[in-house]
Amino acid sequence: MKAAGVLALMAGLITVTESKIYTRCKLAKIFSRASLDNYGGFNLGNWICMAYYESHYNTSAKTVLDDGSIDYGIFQINSFTWCRSEKLQEKNYCHVACSDLVTDDLTDSIICAKKIVKETQGMNYWQGWKKHCEGKDLSEWKKGCDVS
Ligand SMILES: *[C@@H]1O[C@H](CO)[C@@H](O)[C@H](O)[C@H]1NC(C)=O
Repeated sequence: MKAAGVLALMAGLITVTESKIYTRCKLAKIFSRASLDNYGGFNLGNWICMAYYESHYNTSAKTVLDDGSIDYGIFQINSFTWCRSEKLQEKNYCHVACSDLVTDDLTDSIICAKKIVKETQGMNYWQGWKKHCEGKDLSEWKKGCDVS
């Protein structure tokens, strides 16, 4: 019984790690704790709005682009420039495996996103953000969430 219970628990954990859809407020908390609020001058609303339009909060989202590169994870970070997969000759500026950007632990994605903001001087990297979030009043995105 005990072993079966542990096995069931492990199977459960594995399933959860494979694909996780965060709620808006859970993300707000994680982003806030990771000091994304006002990082690079972009308040929390920008980050939550961007993640929504890039991945719909799906940590395992992957998008194959025309050039064969792949966008990974909650921030849809591209393999050609920012992370390392086996296929292409990548730049891997974030020094991270692309597969580490599609786990439900967002640490690596957040570190990499910060680097993108720093090195590309803003959030223009994200088309979803440009199209739907840039220049808008984004206070609604953290409304009702337990963040300041
Ligand atoms: C999340 O993304 C993965 C990979 O693209 C996909 O298989 C899964 O169906 C998505 N989950 C939801 C709820 O959209």
